[in-house]
Amino acid sequence: MNKSPDKILANITAMGMYVPEYVLSNAELEKTVETSDEWIQSRTGIKERRIVAKGEATSHMATNAANKLLAARGISAEEIEVIIVATVTPDMMFPSTAALVQNNIGAKNAWGFDLSGACSGFLFALQTGAQMIETGRYKKVIVIGADTMSSIIDYTDRNTCILFGDGAGAVLLEPSCKYGVIDAKMRIDGSGGKYLHMKAGGSLNPASHDTVDNKMHYIFQDGKSVFKFAVRGMADISFDISERNNLKSEDIKLFIPHQANKRIIDGSANRLGLSDEQVFINIDKYANTTAATIPIGIVEAFESGRLIKDDNLIISAFGAGFTCGAMYIKWGMNHAL
Ligand code: UT7
Repeated sequence: MNKSPDKILANITAMGMYVPEYVLSNAELEKTVETSDEWIQSRTGIKERRIVAKGEATSHMATNAANKLLAARGISAEEIEVIIVATVTPDMMFPSTAALVQNNIGAKNAWGFDLSGACSGFLFALQTGAQMIETGRYKKVIVIGADTMSSIIDYTDRNTCILFGDGAGAVLLEPSCKYGVIDAKMRIDGSGGKYLHMKAGGSLNPASHDTVDNKMHYIFQDGKSVFKFAVRGMADISFDISERNNLKSEDIKLFIPHQANKRIIDGSANRLGLSDEQVFINIDKYANTTAATIPIGIVEAFESGRLIKDDNLIISAFGAGFTCGAMYIKWGMNHAL
């Protein structure tokens, strides 16, 4: 699926990330549920995660990430035409978090919306934003992945409370004739919904005393089943995108996978035949921030010099839905240093 010579590509030209200050360590969780730092690290790779302060929500993190992006690119918010926020933890059911971000940053010429794709949300949003650029209709689209997972976690449930954290990452897409999104493959499979979901708060089970008493506003996950599907799903789709673009393992500079479990990441990396240096991992610091893991990964990889112009980047994710996706990006930014 190599690009045709005159095709407009959606290139990442700036980015920003935000994580809350408060660090919730494994040691801290040992005090509240029956778990251990050793169990968490060996089964997941997680050491700590960030948690929002009271009153701080998804729009605050997303706004911070977007403002950093604007500062990095040196442009005014008025130049932004579209804002897409991938999240499963919007501040409210409506208005959209995109509307809150638009107002916060002063993007008065933009429209936008939220997109619900769980852990694959950023990939789905990036694909959507990329196509807006590729048609030629838009020149500046902000794509954000942001989730406040602490708002839907039961901190007495050791099966889920150790896994998640809060954070946001944002990228700016602009047209290029050479760099950007080359190919993407996305999937959705609703038969997996029973393994990972939140039962209440939507139109099926609106908030009531009953839903609260029965803890239905928290994440439910059958971890073992999701694990099985995720290992296979993320490895397969990452392999497919590489194979159909004729990328051999040595052609891939960096693989930035969704950060849900280090063992799932290792499975995909092995399938692609990648060495440790080719795989980006920060699950130890932030845990699973759902839609934010990949954009945060992109920011940290770029800022630490692991991505430079002309590199081949693969990003991929698997999450609730089930959803999954992988994307091949020809990286187009020179390192700032
Ligand atoms: O991003 C969205 C997609 N989500 C994922 O990709 C997550 C997929 N799942 C996972 O990452 C893993 O399944 C978990 C990390 C959630 C669990 O790891 P596991 O190796 O699959 O453990 P398990 O579910 O097989 O549980 C093993 C044991 C169980 O005890 P028994 O039944 O063997 O006595 C659990 O009760 O570990 C127990 N356990 C814990 N022990 C200490 C579960 N959570 C904990 C805990 N600390 N926090």
